[in-house]
Amino acid sequence: MTIESTDTILVTGGAGFIGSNFVLGWIENLPGRIINLDKLTYAGNLHNLDAIAGNSRHIFIRGDICNPDLVEELLESYHPRAVVNLAAESHVDRSIHQPDEFARANVQGTLNLLEKSRRYWRKLSPSRRSGFRFLQVSSDEVYGSLGPREQPFSETAAVAPNSPYAASKAAADHFVRAWHHTYGLPTLTTNCSNNYGPFQLPEKLIPLMILNALEGRPLPVYGDGENIRDWIYVLDHCEGIRAVLRNGLPGETYNIGGRNERKNIDLVAIICDYLDELRPDPSIGRRKRLIEFVTDRPGHDRRYAINSSKIENALGWKPRTPFEEGIRKTIAWYLANDQWVEKARGSGYREWLELNYGNR
Ligand code: NAD
Ligand code: DAU
Repeated sequence: MTIESTDTILVTGGAGFIGSNFVLGWIENLPGRIINLDKLTYAGNLHNLDAIAGNSRHIFIRGDICNPDLVEELLESYHPRAVVNLAAESHVDRSIHQPDEFARANVQGTLNLLEKSRRYWRKLSPSRRSGFRFLQVSSDEVYGSLGPREQPFSETAAVAPNSPYAASKAAADHFVRAWHHTYGLPTLTTNCSNNYGPFQLPEKLIPLMILNALEGRPLPVYGDGENIRDWIYVLDHCEGIRAVLRNGLPGETYNIGGRNERKNIDLVAIICDYLDELRPDPSIGRRKRLIEFVTDRPGHDRRYAINSSKIENALGWKPRTPFEEGIRKTIAWYLANDQWVEKARGSGYREWLELNYGNR
């Protein structure tokens, strides 16, 4: 399939962290047009897309994926060759306080996109119908938590979501599966591990630790800090999504991971050491001393790890960015983009928590 031709694709959530990296990479390196549908929640930021401002191949539409009329209108007006759904509420901590919003955006929104895509796809000419793809960007969190000696999650692992966020992503994945099996919609699903890189909000672990450590503020590590995540550089994830869109088999799911398991406490220590080297500050001293063990996240999954052999063997993709290189690039990006950081600060989780729930 020649998805990377002059065709149009509809991307949702393209002003968020992964979405903006995906859109920028596509517009800067590939032909074709992107219709970018994003509600601009607290997590969406049009400044992420400044580098392609004015580029006629990027059309930004502010709107909600739950809006049936809008989604129908976009499909009928722009005739996309594919829909790539990145829009979601993405933060586990917030989902514990506001599960309804996660059910609405992640489940109802995906269902709306699926149903409108199905109706659009059915009317396409036979050749365009067979080339159409609906790609759902999902998470490794749908598989639940791994024990210390268990093998990383493959695509056949049982789905066992533990947080409201993970439950909403798993529910959406099930709808995607059903729309393929029941209606024949050519769907693809990717389940990826923890991303890091430019444009990630400081509600998530890595940017929060970089920015707090930079300013000499406490580094809140949940529980005993021994929880493990499998970290992948965001551009490697975007490349994986493109590989699946290009050559993935309809109806299949593909796990995407970094082959890079780290304990949270070790990760935070690495960030402290790099910042001590890049921005030594005698008034702060060694930044590891800023680490504080705080109350654990309720239901905190102990370990995630992804087996990405399927996408590696079938589609020739693999993560290219070594962690040491990716984390240094990420730290350098946050150091160089203080205006972006200034704006992003107010949308951080702790500020949000205080605003909505008081200081508790
Ligand atoms: P993000 O929170 O940074 O961005 C989400 C984007 O979606 C924002 O621009 C927001 O405005 C938009 N959005 C939210 N609700 C919307 C709605 N109802 N209609 C239209 N737009 C809406 O999230 P992210 O980290 O970039 O994650 C993107 C996708 O990748 C999500 O589906 C997430 O579940 C998935 N994912 C993320 C990770 C990760 O580590 N960040 C890993 C695996 C999968
Ligand atoms: O695994 C993929 C998932 O990764 C994505 O589907 C989610 O959208 C994304 O947010 C991410 O979820 P996590 O909960 O793993 O990411 P977060 O950055 O919030 O936390 C990473 C780990 O760090 C986790 O074990 C909790 C811990 N943590 C997090 C924060 C914000 C802390 O110890 N302290 C913190 O302040």
